[in-house]
Amino acid sequence: MKVLITGVSSGIGKATCEALIQKNIHVLGVSRNASQISFNSSLYTPYDLNLAKCSQIQKPLEQIQKEHPDIDILICNAGKGLFGSLEEYSYHAMQELMNLNFLSHAILSKVFIPNMKKKKKGKIVFIASEAALQGRQRGSLYCASKAALRSFAQALREECASSGISINIINPGMVRTEFFNELNIAPGPSEENAITPEQVATAIIYTIEQGPNMLIEEINLAPLKKVVEHKKSKQ
Ligand SMILES: NC(=O)c1ccc[n+]([C@@H]2O[C@H](COP(=O)([O-])OP(=O)(O)OC[C@H]3O[C@@H](n4cnc5c(N)ncnc54)[C@H](OP(=O)(O)O)[C@@H]3O)[C@@H](O)[C@H]2O)c1
Repeated sequence: MKVLITGVSSGIGKATCEALIQKNIHVLGVSRNASQISFNSSLYTPYDLNLAKCSQIQKPLEQIQKEHPDIDILICNAGKGLFGSLEEYSYHAMQELMNLNFLSHAILSKVFIPNMKKKKKGKIVFIASEAALQGRQRGSLYCASKAALRSFAQALREECASSGISINIINPGMVRTEFFNELNIAPGPSEENAITPEQVATAIIYTIEQGPNMLIEEINLAPLKKVVEHKKSKQ
């Protein structure tokens, strides 16, 4: 059994990869800089791929699937933030966000599901967001991208349940990661203002360890005291 994680090079993906390797599970990591981290383990195989270039990802993903037919679990985690008024976004930025946060993971699922159906087993975990649950000011595109991912996952769950494939959704609130590096917002400084990526990794592993009869459909995670700080230097 192998696990494929997108967005493996930092934050939630990296913490999840580390936790899976600790459990002696082989992880295939996909992101633009996947090969720049080693995890000091032969249980990690990196694939450098820009998932925002959706028209170019199906073939490389099919190749990964051929090389590793024993991938039974997908963790659809890669994503980025984009916050501001709608008129501030370029068409390119809008397209890239929808590609990365939503469409790339629909394509990834499409590539891997036929083999999972043949084997009558498989698990797909989608990292959506609290933003998938409620649209918020200055988050029109980000909320839409995560709501699209969540709805896609819900529909796919119904489509795949009879084939033995389980679909889980995790909706984190603010997690202290590199996600905020390029944004003009960040969680407040207190430990209580953000979840750690390791805590999200624990929730992901908890969901994939369930079964075969019980499915954790969705988990919402939130910091105890949500505080959003606005950085001064950026827009
Ligand atoms: N942090 C939060 O508060 C929070 C809250 C709710 C949901 N989330 C969601 O959680 C997921 C992980 O975020 P994180 O907080 O762990 O952020 P992060 O530390 O910035 O990690 C994002 C990951 O996505 C990868 N990525 C970015 N652009 C990519 C591209 N074009 N192609 C392939 N991979 C790409 C990055 O790797 P490379 O740079 O190597 O490509 C990185 O590994 C995201 O989907 C995010 O929307 C985060």
